[in-house]
Amino acid sequence: MADRYSALVSSGIGKQVATALGLPRPSRLRRHEVGAAVMPGAVLVAGAADSPLAECIRELLGGWDVAVATQPSTSVAGVVLDMTGIMTPGVLEQLRFALAPALKTLQPSGRVVVLGRPPTMASTPEQAAARQALEGIVRSVAKEMRGGGTANLVRVAESADANIAATLRFFLSGRSAYVSGQVVEVGAGRPGGEVSAPADWDAPLAGKVAVVTGAARGIGAEIARVLSRDRASVVCVDIPAAGAPLAALANEIGGSALQLDVTTPDAGDRIADHARSRHGGLDIVVHNAGITRDKLLANTDADRWHEVLDVNLLSVLRMNEALLDEDGIADDGHLVLVSSIAGLAGNRGQANYAASKAGIAGLTRALGASPELHGRGITVNAVAPGFIETEMTAKIPFATREVGRRLNSLAQGGLPVDVAETIGWLSWDANAGVTGQVVRVCGQSLLGA
Ligand SMILES: NC(=O)c1ccc[n+]([C@@H]2O[C@H](COP(=O)([O-])OP(=O)(O)OC[C@H]3O[C@@H](n4cnc5c(N)ncnc54)[C@H](O)[C@@H]3O)[C@@H](O)[C@H]2O)c1
Repeated sequence: MADRYSALVSSGIGKQVATALGLPRPSRLRRHEVGAAVMPGAVLVAGAADSPLAECIRELLGGWDVAVATQPSTSVAGVVLDMTGIMTPGVLEQLRFALAPALKTLQPSGRVVVLGRPPTMASTPEQAAARQALEGIVRSVAKEMRGGGTANLVRVAESADANIAATLRFFLSGRSAYVSGQVVEVGAGRPGGEVSAPADWDAPLAGKVAVVTGAARGIGAEIARVLSRDRASVVCVDIPAAGAPLAALANEIGGSALQLDVTTPDAGDRIADHARSRHGGLDIVVHNAGITRDKLLANTDADRWHEVLDVNLLSVLRMNEALLDEDGIADDGHLVLVSSIAGLAGNRGQANYAASKAGIAGLTRALGASPELHGRGITVNAVAPGFIETEMTAKIPFATREVGRRLNSLAQGGLPVDVAETIGWLSWDANAGVTGQVVRVCGQSLLGA
């Protein structure tokens, strides 16, 4: 979808005018390409308080052919800071000491990844304060990044040091292009289970069967393409009225099409039956189908209210009854839901939509904490997209659209592929330690930040 402003201020006279007027000049973001290096340059690894994970991080980077720097240099493409060992806020200064010079020389689309521990698991109030302080630093640094750079915080539970590979790789790679200012927790994964790396990081879903609802167009179509590119067999679900584009997509990616309205009472069973009979199993479900029926609450009638709640939230609850049953998603599978920053922040004219999307976030956290699903190794996570360039957002009036597009730390809208890559990562077995998380894909939008 064309972003004419970005094109205008990136070339010739437009660039000079934008610079003179101090207008935002969005950078071209580094996005994932199959076969490309994880990082375009070296990564500085530093830390504080003995850096308990630094050795493990260096080993991972070495295994991914990423050069490791120990001193900030002009060519550094990313910084990984191990702050997992901090006991008091005084030690935070070491983060400043290591990061400040590196930020000045970071390459375009640079990456800052800070590793900490959950404040809730701290042994003293000082330690909890220090751990929480990392969030303030990372969210601020994300707002200071230039050239399309991102900064994110990964909280590693004490028992989960061995599980950081997938999350670290995601945040360094181009897959996380539009994810910034986020906090993600990595936990232990299934009791007794082992979280192992895929044989091929370019085929992390090899042998898996995935279902994507609302796949005929927009974000859903891109999710289906990305999961298929990463080697899953994909069932594309959408309403019968979207049958033609749905069939075309299924053909394009070598998957199958299932014409189904997700509000149908037995939709969950029909999805599970189709996946099993056509593909031999079911490992990943992405609840992406969604609609808007915007009006101020004062003018919202019961039909607009029910329709949005039914498609976006109630159908998900109904389908999950079948999909999370023994005959649904296989053990060690993954459920990914699609929320929205409108649900987290609230949005004028969208009380019905925000209710449904906030409900999705609540549902995700509750299912992520379910001992039963944990015991089966099933992860449940959500993405909350911000302004994504789709047919949905192309219909927003120009002025409102421009505001939505620019009011984030990357000064641009995201692409459907950015949401799809994040969902792909949340579907990897290598990411089995991540559950109950709601990850915003919004370029650190100011909305509800
Ligand atoms: N575009 C954005 O900026 C944005 C931002 C935040 C969240 N989202 C969410 O991302 C998801 C995809 O959004 P999009 O922009 O691609 O929307 P879209 O309108 O382009 O596509 C939605 C798809 O869902 C399908 N669908 C709708 N009702 C259905 C039903 N009852 N059963 C089966 N399929 C149904 C539609 O036919 C369509 O193909 C939605 O859940 C949306 O709320 C989008």
